[in-house]
Amino acid sequence: MPVYRSALLRFADDGTALYDQDGLLAVGPDAEGRQRVLAAGAWQSLAPQFAGEPVVHLPGRILAPGFVDLHIHFPQTDVIGSPADGLLPWLENYTFPHESRFVDPGYSAQVAEFFVAELLRNGVTTALAFATSHPASVDALFAEAQRQQMRLITGKVLQDRHSPDGVRDDTVQSLIDTEALIRRWHGVDRLGYAITPRFAPTSTPEQLRGAGELAARYPDVWIQSHVAENLDEIRWARELFPASRSYLAVYDDFGLMRERAVYAHCIHFNDDDRALMRDTGATAAVSPTSNLFLGSGFFDYAGADRVGFGYGLASDVGGGTSFSPFKTMMAAYYVGREGQTKQGLSLSPQQLWWQHTAGAARALGLEGVVGNLQPGCEADFLVLNPAATPLLARKTQQARNLEELLFALIVLGDDRVVEQTVISQAKYGSRA
Ligand code: GUN
Ligand code: ZN
Repeated sequence: MPVYRSALLRFADDGTALYDQDGLLAVGPDAEGRQRVLAAGAWQSLAPQFAGEPVVHLPGRILAPGFVDLHIHFPQTDVIGSPADGLLPWLENYTFPHESRFVDPGYSAQVAEFFVAELLRNGVTTALAFATSHPASVDALFAEAQRQQMRLITGKVLQDRHSPDGVRDDTVQSLIDTEALIRRWHGVDRLGYAITPRFAPTSTPEQLRGAGELAARYPDVWIQSHVAENLDEIRWARELFPASRSYLAVYDDFGLMRERAVYAHCIHFNDDDRALMRDTGATAAVSPTSNLFLGSGFFDYAGADRVGFGYGLASDVGGGTSFSPFKTMMAAYYVGREGQTKQGLSLSPQQLWWQHTAGAARALGLEGVVGNLQPGCEADFLVLNPAATPLLARKTQQARNLEELLFALIVLGDDRVVEQTVISQAKYGSRA
């Protein structure tokens, strides 16, 4: 059983960052052979319990929880950086044509291999991901995540109207395919299924109704979609569903708001929408690099906290511009400063880091399972090098407290900081 000695970052239940300059992390297998955290805290107080165990000493490094990406599109890996005049032209001109290629299982498998490797290389150990409307794309991504023992949730995109040939699916078949994929993959190893209507404008009421029925029949399956990202999109959704109180309420009207439902963006909300998120237990995937790149707007952090619904951070690749959680946290900070309410919110680095780890895990209903290094958590963790670049080395050396250290990493960090990603599985755990 390896015992690690290093600086150690984790989070208390209330979201406070806990940091031990000289920390101990002990991991060991549970009954299924999955590595879990046995103990985490100050070396001095915990070391006697582990006397005689082999110690992996990592001076100058920081052990931190693996990041959780709450919303990412695996088939948009190669769509990153496609400029467009807002969301709808971007979908039509770049995204839909590219996603049509994933009908080919071989192509899907090749991109899935790169995608999972890129997540792990960037320190993301749990992701809620969109596939495409082709079941082959879902099989490819699950198979690759299973091979890497990664915790991954994905689903077949539902889009039976207002979508071009090549990505548009058939209403009845799409629901049959969804249920077959749930039965094939949900709960297998570390994999989970998400019922995935792309967004209300590309689904008929019949498809949304069928998705809602599946969500009721499989209550521990996730739901993911997009909402209130862009003003043209909102106008369109309101025209298509005039009977619903708001764009968000469309999803509620079809039984698609509940715990384990994660909606990307949630930018243009009023307080009724915020209360609906809170009361149903649905959560938001805040996607700041995407929102800045596509010019969609700013997530209203103050509004979300005032009304009290859950959220966490997401890359939204390929509307988003980076796989790196450091880039996403940096963009979230800009959004806090410049956001809709013009309150000049200064999100603390501890708060930003929490939103991409333990907070995102909570938004997924996986609090205490991933995104943290408290005892009992699955031992997905990162070995970070705070001196990965000359400038980082200078800056982190001068940090006088945790806030300054984490800010330096967020502002100057990227994939170079992630020296090693350790997955909660014996094969990988023993390698670190
Ligand atoms: N809304 C519907 N589809 C998409 C998508 O692929 N990306 C983003 N950012 N928004 C969407
Ligand atoms: Zn998205």
